[in-house]
Amino acid sequence: MENENKLFYIETWGCQMNEEDSEKLSGMLRNSGYSNTEEREKADIIIFNTCCVRENAELKVYGNLGALKKLKKTNPDLIIAVCGCMMQQEGMAQAIIKKYPFVDIIFGTHNSHKFPEYLNRTKQEGKSIIEIWNKEEGIVEGLPIDRKSDVKAFVTIMYGCNNFCTYCIVPYVRGRERSRNPEDIEAEIQGLVKLGYKEITLLGQNVNSYGKDLVPALSFSNLLRRLNNIDGLERVRFMTSHPKDLTEDVIDAISECDKLCEQIHLPVQSGSSRILKKMNRFYTREDYLNLVKKIKEKIPGVGLSTDIIVGFPGETEEDFEETLSLVKEVEYDTAFTFIYSNRQGTPADKMDEQIPEDVKHNRFNRLIEAVNKTFEKNNKEYEGKVVEVLVEGESKTSDDRLMGRTRTGKLVNFYGDKSNVGKLINVRIVKSNSFSLTGEEI
Ligand code: SAH
Ligand code: SF4
Ligand code: F3S
Repeated sequence: MENENKLFYIETWGCQMNEEDSEKLSGMLRNSGYSNTEEREKADIIIFNTCCVRENAELKVYGNLGALKKLKKTNPDLIIAVCGCMMQQEGMAQAIIKKYPFVDIIFGTHNSHKFPEYLNRTKQEGKSIIEIWNKEEGIVEGLPIDRKSDVKAFVTIMYGCNNFCTYCIVPYVRGRERSRNPEDIEAEIQGLVKLGYKEITLLGQNVNSYGKDLVPALSFSNLLRRLNNIDGLERVRFMTSHPKDLTEDVIDAISECDKLCEQIHLPVQSGSSRILKKMNRFYTREDYLNLVKKIKEKIPGVGLSTDIIVGFPGETEEDFEETLSLVKEVEYDTAFTFIYSNRQGTPADKMDEQIPEDVKHNRFNRLIEAVNKTFEKNNKEYEGKVVEVLVEGESKTSDDRLMGRTRTGKLVNFYGDKSNVGKLINVRIVKSNSFSLTGEEI
């Protein structure tokens, strides 16, 4: 077969959206005969799938691109491709090719399904190809996906975002919201179940507005209830839920449907209503706390996680303390904490009262201390309990333990039989820390 001994290497930065695009790029390359390698130096094709949500994501790309110059010198046939969200920013592709003229292919988030075509073209024509589409063009179904895990899979149910939070670049680089047809989603999940997958995470920047653009419209809770009927599927999770759109019927669906896991990722971003308004989030601190209350009432033991930004323009010490007190009140199980990063083209970038770096860092450290305490407290409550764990594989710790997750999303490390990978087993929790649980198979 053509390309039989050829290897490709993909480096992916950013969120699950990019991960999924990389799985599709990988699937397309495998279909053309290429194999994957984890060693950059051995690759015939190197792809960088970039993220631009914060400045440090971009800095990583520059550093890694610079290091490729040497590889291209020793192997002039090497093909280097750069894609992903960062390339969708105005003028970025041109800036990259100017600074790194050895790059062969640049494409964006809307045309990654065209990659095999660009690859052939650059090989035939011997010159660099830059192709960025400014607009999304519906949804391309049926691309091969080369998934990382055999046990759990991510399934995107909608692309893009309409929310335009004032700090965020995602709507500019991922386009407007568009939902996949429920039949396509169902068929994909049924196919995965046949292959032995047990857990599915539904993905979208804002899954709660799923289906509003479909004709006829279908609500997210109805989609969830439909998926709950798929035989052989064990667990369904989803992210991300925007607090302004998470409706009671979704909470009810979780509490009533056996496959829907008791876990919600509910980014709060700030605990101050004043800052939330400036962020264009469309909910207040009180709205958020009421929502959390309702969730905890209807889904006992729910695993709650969040995203928080510190140092948004105009954030005062009082605003920040409101974030700290909210964190203490909600007692999150996990939180992703970020220092506000200016993104060109977003409204917040031009706001007055940008916060000095040292203040941002100081708040960041205090926030981490506060959230770690709540993680530790919640995890401690698992000690002595027996939980259902889906065994995902070997633990990332250096010993030969296995790892898996509870329905609430907790990471559990334990000694056990490798033949249990892919199975649901009961584990007794014996120890805990802020980030994981230690258990014994029973
Ligand atoms: N759609 C999801 C996640 C989008 S990006 C949501 O709405 O929650 C993931 C997280 O990155 C965001 O939740 C936010 O906390 C953070 N983020 C986005 N833009 C940022 C910026 N300019 N600076 C710092 N953090 C940012
Ligand atoms: Fe960004 Fe807000 Fe959309 Fe999330 S909801 S992707 S934070 S604009
Ligand atoms: Fe995700 Fe980064 Fe793009 S967070 S949507 S990969 S900008």
